[in-house]
Amino acid sequence: MNKSALFNEPINRRNTGSDKWDKYPSEDIIPMWVADMDFRAPREVLQAITDRNQHGIYGYQSKPLDLLRLIQVRYSARYDWHFDLDSLSLVSGVVPAMNQVCRALLSEDESAITVTPVYYPFLAMGQNSDRTLIQVPAQPLGGGTPSDRFDPTYAKNHYPYPIDALRDALERNPQARLLLLCNPWNPVGRVLSRAELEAIAALAREFDLIICSDEIHFELLFDDNRHICIANLNEDIRQRTITVSAATKTFNIAGLGGAWVIIENPDLRGKFERFGLGLNQGNNPLTVAATQTALAECEYWRLGLLEHLQSNRALLRSTIEQIEGISMNEIQGTYLAWLDIQALNLVDPAAFFEARGLGLSLGAQFGGPGYMRLNMGCTRATMIEACKRLSAI
Ligand SMILES: Cc1ncc(COP(=O)(O)O)c(C=O)c1O
Repeated sequence: MNKSALFNEPINRRNTGSDKWDKYPSEDIIPMWVADMDFRAPREVLQAITDRNQHGIYGYQSKPLDLLRLIQVRYSARYDWHFDLDSLSLVSGVVPAMNQVCRALLSEDESAITVTPVYYPFLAMGQNSDRTLIQVPAQPLGGGTPSDRFDPTYAKNHYPYPIDALRDALERNPQARLLLLCNPWNPVGRVLSRAELEAIAALAREFDLIICSDEIHFELLFDDNRHICIANLNEDIRQRTITVSAATKTFNIAGLGGAWVIIENPDLRGKFERFGLGLNQGNNPLTVAATQTALAECEYWRLGLLEHLQSNRALLRSTIEQIEGISMNEIQGTYLAWLDIQALNLVDPAAFFEARGLGLSLGAQFGGPGYMRLNMGCTRATMIEACKRLSAI
C-alpha cells in the first residue's frame, strides 16, 4: 500500500465503540473532536497483535525488558537523553500517571500550577487530589495579516509560553509546588523552544518546583521543529522533573492504553512508586506487543503520517485564511488546530458548528473560551468536506 493510501482509506468507525464517532449519531456531523485519528494502526502493529492472539494465552505479563530498553535507546539516540533503566517504568496512561503524581507529591498545603489553555484533564487534577490548581492564562498576542499567521515563526511569537505571568503567579502563590507542563502544547499546537524551556527550568529552580511534563505528542512535530525533553536541559532540572509520555498518539493506538514515566530522582521516584503500590497493574500483553512493534518497526508510518497531517494543515490554513471571523496560528506539532472564533460572537459555539456539520471541541473546556479545537487526523476527503463546511460559514 502506498504511503498516501495508508491515510486515505475510508473506514467506517460508527458502531465500533468509538467515543469520537458515537458522540454524533447523526451522519450529518463529521466528528473532529477527541484526539484519536481515523487511520488504521500500522500493519506491523496489527500483525503483532494477531500473533499474540494466535498464541492464545493471556497470562500475567512479565516486566517487558525489551520494550523498556527500546524506549531507553530511543531517548538516547533521538533526544540525546541518557537515563538508567531504573528511571523508566510503564503505566496504564499519561492521565492516570499525572493524577498519581499530584496525589503522591503534593502535601495538603501545596498546590499544582499550570498554564491555560491546556489539555482539559489537567484542569481536574487539583480537585482529583484535593489540592488547588493555580491557572495562569497565556495571552495570544494577535495582530498580523492572515499570511503572517502561517509564518513558521509566528506561532511561537503569537502564543508564547507566559513566563512573566507564571513568575507573577509563583510570587503570589508560594504554596505552588508542582508545575504541570504540556509540551508539545495541546490545544494550541506549540512546540516549546529551548529558550522557553530554559526559562521554565530557571523558574523551577528559583521557586523550588517539581515539573510533571506531559510529552505525549513529542513525535508528532512538523517542519523543522525539534522536541526538547525539559528534563534533559541540565542537572538541576533532571532532578526535579517527571516526564510522562507514550506511543499511543503517534501510532493511533490510544484505546489500547499504555504510557511510560521517566523519573531520574530516586526520592521522587520512590514517592511516585509507593503511591502506586497495589494500584498499578503495568501493561497488558497486547499493549506491550503493539507498543514495542510500533516503536521498533513503524518509523515509515510515522513519517507518512506527518506528511499527510501537514497536507491537511495546509488545506485547513488556506481555508481559514479566506473566512471572515475565524483565524488560527501555525500548528507546530500535534494534529490539533486551535481556531480563534472570538469575532463570531457565538452564544453556543458547539451547537453553531454542529448545525454546520462539524463536531469540534469547545475551547472553554481547555480554559480557552472563544476558541474551538479541530482534529486534523482524518482522510483527505474528510478534510476537504470539513473545509467546504467551514467555508460555508
Ligand atoms: C496532552 C495529552 N496528554 C495525555 C493524553 C491522553 O493520554 P492517555 O490516554 O495516555 O491518558 C492526551 C490525549 O489526547 C493528550 O493530548
